[in-house]
Amino acid sequence: MFYSDDVIEEVRYLNDIVDVVSSYNIALKQRGGNFLGLCPFHNEKTPSFSVSSDKQMYKCFGCGEGGNVYSFVMKMDNVEFKEALTTLAGRINYNLPKLNGSLQSKMENLSKERYFEINRLAARFFYETLMSDEGIDARKYLESRKISNKSIAKYGLGYSGNKSALYTYLTDLGYEANDLLTLGLIVKSKSEDKYFDRFFNRLMFPIIDDRSNITGFGGRVTGAGEPKYLNSKETPVFDKSKNLYGINIARKTRSRELVLVEGYMDVIALFEGGFENVVASLGTSFNQSHARVLKKYCDSVVLAFDGDQAGVLAALKAMPIIEKNGIRVKVFSTDDAKDPDDYIKKFGADKLKEQFKNAKSSMAFKIECLLKKYDIDKPDESVMFTKDAVKILSDIDNLIEQDVYLRQIVSLTGISEPAIKSELAKAGKSLDAPPKKRLVKQPVTAPKLSKADAESCKRLLRLIAYEPKIREAVVRHLSPEEIHIEIYRDIFVEIIKPDFDNKQIYPAELSSRFETLEWQKEIADIFVLNDDEYLSATEKEINQLVKKIKEYHIKQYKVDEKDLKSLEIKANMQKSLSVLNIKISDG
Ligand code: CTP
Ligand code: MN
Repeated sequence: MFYSDDVIEEVRYLNDIVDVVSSYNIALKQRGGNFLGLCPFHNEKTPSFSVSSDKQMYKCFGCGEGGNVYSFVMKMDNVEFKEALTTLAGRINYNLPKLNGSLQSKMENLSKERYFEINRLAARFFYETLMSDEGIDARKYLESRKISNKSIAKYGLGYSGNKSALYTYLTDLGYEANDLLTLGLIVKSKSEDKYFDRFFNRLMFPIIDDRSNITGFGGRVTGAGEPKYLNSKETPVFDKSKNLYGINIARKTRSRELVLVEGYMDVIALFEGGFENVVASLGTSFNQSHARVLKKYCDSVVLAFDGDQAGVLAALKAMPIIEKNGIRVKVFSTDDAKDPDDYIKKFGADKLKEQFKNAKSSMAFKIECLLKKYDIDKPDESVMFTKDAVKILSDIDNLIEQDVYLRQIVSLTGISEPAIKSELAKAGKSLDAPPKKRLVKQPVTAPKLSKADAESCKRLLRLIAYEPKIREAVVRHLSPEEIHIEIYRDIFVEIIKPDFDNKQIYPAELSSRFETLEWQKEIADIFVLNDDEYLSATEKEINQLVKKIKEYHIKQYKVDEKDLKSLEIKANMQKSLSVLNIKISDG
């Protein structure tokens, strides 16, 4: 599939299934938590088509069709997954990455070129204003912040003076007010039919993308005034979720390590200090689009966010997004300065360089954050600290690294190593999920499975999807190969993927991990038809369910009488079955 799971999940999440079904002129009546209507997939006079708003799935009790918004649109429009995604994204004005070079996109590119040209002229105009008499106060402000002319030129800083200067300048050159409005450079006053500049009396920061196009602007007040920064609104060329301020300069360093900061001023202050490989996400929370741009230019990132609580939280949130894209993360954080700009002013560039070199691993940073959260001198808080820390430890694949942190926790808390290790064993998963690949499956004829066996398999899948604790316990005793029915095995494999760790899994999300209607329907079958008391499962029942699956697997296992090895394998399987004892932790 062309799009990431994140995009697929976001588009699904933003499309409420009840709205989508209703938009196909299917009248739905509320019945408790569900909605009921006439099934669009078979002929009926009494409604048996049920749509669950909680589960965001549908299921027909007449013909058996079922799935989530994607399978619904696939069936209704008779299209493939990708087209259903496009339709659903369109419904909510979600910008999917562009895929083709059709005429329409050529036209769009033409107008984009024109927008970039206008932005370029605006930036030059702001720069010239800054350098003119009008810009004297702004220049003094920059000087007070130790920003040199070199940086001003490098980042193309400018100044927006009086309220209609840019409007007059650009329309005199023949540019149309409409385009300037689209670009958010001017606004139309409500009372009179007049235009004014959106930015005035502000220090201007052009925001430039990695292809050197100016996509938008940020403007800072140079004295008192609100807001401190005014940024371009969303325009056809400005999408704030993609901005990485400074990327046009950082990419040219060809350094495969970038420093990620929060603000314009951090980027420029670090540039003054000799760091050119710095980019800022500009106060927007770091997201997958940012990561995609980063990925093009670096293999490792030093996170250097502000030292306040918001900055720490932002760093904790950004880390997994960056790491998920295969980029290494180190963290620079200090209590001695409020942001990197402040740090370099106080301690100098050499010191900062050293700090970057010794920046903490993301693990160390997480543990440090935990230490701030709990007072480990208090016994109960020390236990809570350890529990949280074990969660962090269990994310580490590398055993040596894991051991290093484990010892750190031991020495910090005084809790014994075996105790922590046993916690870790409970939380740990031995199954490294294979690299992510979206599943496109052709239906196959399944080997025969008794109805009872099928039901216990389905019940187990429900239990492990809804209850992370049960999942953790089960994966340590059951491997995918032991599940004989391909469709259940695939679902099992998906459920135990690390990105679902510690989370309850929503069937609607699980469903769109599969592109084939057959699989989506099966998920609806397993999860929607059955509202059994999954939460009250006992350890005994879990053991029985797993045992059933294993027994079936052993029965299917063909031994070759001449092959001693295969006899031995089968005997071992039987032996381990007889001692099967799954324990669910209740920590
Ligand atoms: N920001 C914004 N609007 C605001 C405040 C902040 O868009 N009202 C964005 C800006 O991109 C800013 C970033 O969030 O650069 C970080 O905010 P802050 O740390 O306040 O700004 P600095 O760039 O550090 O600016 P300064 O040092 O001048 O305060
Ligand atoms: Mn600052």
